[in-house]
Amino acid sequence: SCCGGMEKEKTFAMIKPDGVYGNYSDKIKAIIMDSGFSIKRELRVQLDEDTVRSFYAEHSSKSFFPSLVKYMTSGPILVMILEKDNAVADWRKLIGPTDAEKAKVTHPQSIRAMCGLNTEKNCVHGSHSIQSASREMSFFF
Ligand code: TYD
Repeated sequence: SCCGGMEKEKTFAMIKPDGVYGNYSDKIKAIIMDSGFSIKRELRVQLDEDTVRSFYAEHSSKSFFPSLVKYMTSGPILVMILEKDNAVADWRKLIGPTDAEKAKVTHPQSIRAMCGLNTEKNCVHGSHSIQSASREMSFFF
């Protein structure tokens, strides 16, 4: 009688090169599961430049783009599909603000405060919206 096939919301998450390289993957996955998400899919990949350019296409005209491409290709990443009620907003809340340096002050419990360095090397990614989650999940899975 319960739950007639209703699916919970899904979002796309990524542990970026500094997170993988700094050995934060297991700690971040523990936080994810302790926060009520289930990890539906998981893949470790090394991105090439064209793949980063395509994933972050909306930022292609920004001055930081070449540096972002270099950073995102600097080592393997871990991409995941997370599932939970309100997954998109709750994962964004858990990772904290884009600038990891500021996050250490304003959101000290956030994942970016724990393992990020600055606005570029901020350790993790989370989709902004249901629409971007859908795009990003099909980009990798
Ligand atoms: P953005 O979508 O603004 O942030 P978020 O990752 O919190 O969704 O930016 C995407 C990524 O682009 C960000 O995680 C790192 C990079 N970036 C920079 O390197 N420098 C910047 O000034 C900004 C705004 C983003």
